[in-house]
Amino acid sequence: MITIKNLTKSFGAQTVLKDISMQIPKGLTTAIVGPSGTGKSVLVKLITGLLQADSGEILIGNRSMTDAKSVDERLDICSTMGVLFQSAALFDSLSLIENVAFPLTYRRKDSREEVYTKSAKLLKDVGLSEYESYLPGEVSIGMRKRVGIARALVTEPEFIFFDEPNTGLDPKVGQEIYELIASLQEVNSFTGVVISHEIPEVFQICHKIVMLYQGKVQFDGSIDEFVDNDNQIVKQFYNGEIEGPISIA
Ligand SMILES: Nc1ncnc2c1ncn2[C@@H]1O[C@H](COP(=O)(O)OP(=O)(O)O)[C@@H](O)[C@H]1O
Ligand SMILES: [Mg+2]
Repeated sequence: MITIKNLTKSFGAQTVLKDISMQIPKGLTTAIVGPSGTGKSVLVKLITGLLQADSGEILIGNRSMTDAKSVDERLDICSTMGVLFQSAALFDSLSLIENVAFPLTYRRKDSREEVYTKSAKLLKDVGLSEYESYLPGEVSIGMRKRVGIARALVTEPEFIFFDEPNTGLDPKVGQEIYELIASLQEVNSFTGVVISHEIPEVFQICHKIVMLYQGKVQFDGSIDEFVDNDNQIVKQFYNGEIEGPISIA
């Protein structure tokens, strides 16, 4: 479980997250939704230690990311987490299998043979075993996302974050990515967090929804509660309406 308590983060005069609290339950997938620019990616970066909070607490299991005393301690907590970044963020000059292998190579725990075996298995799990030696520039965006997913899973982390896993993909490929995440979750039973602004597509892979808007948690509950909710902000977002409290930039 991940527990977030009274978390606040500002950039200069702009407060992106205002005193937010939530729980991300173990072994399930939680969707964090909301319009663009509401701090979803910032939240993931705070949880995964890429950004530092101004105040509040983040507990990963029973360990505090916000109270970690040293870089080593933070890195140790980070080793329990995998991330698929919004743009996949592959290394352009490394082959697909080298990209998947990167977290294993970096942590230096496994022999070269083990690194290869684990990376090849993950590339196979995401349907790309034929493409081991291709470079990211030689394959489609959907394939690059699959490589990003394989890389996020290769260290068998307990927590995996998928930031907008199907942004920039056509609907069919986006759907395949969701199905891939759902099947990997079933097999590996990790605790998943999927960031998305795609309603209702994301419902098919999540067990719980948290909605952010204007730096606040507007909703935290089940899909049924989300669909049948009286909060005008939730309603407008769910129905994709132009009129309402959410201002469309
Ligand atoms: N490193 C940063 N420095 C300054 N502003 C940032 C930084 N990262 C994000 N922001 C701002 O924080 C807000 C939320 O961004 P983000 O979390 O990326 O939104 P989204 O919900 O679309 O993922 C945006 O206004 C963005 O410009
Ligand atoms: Mg984002």
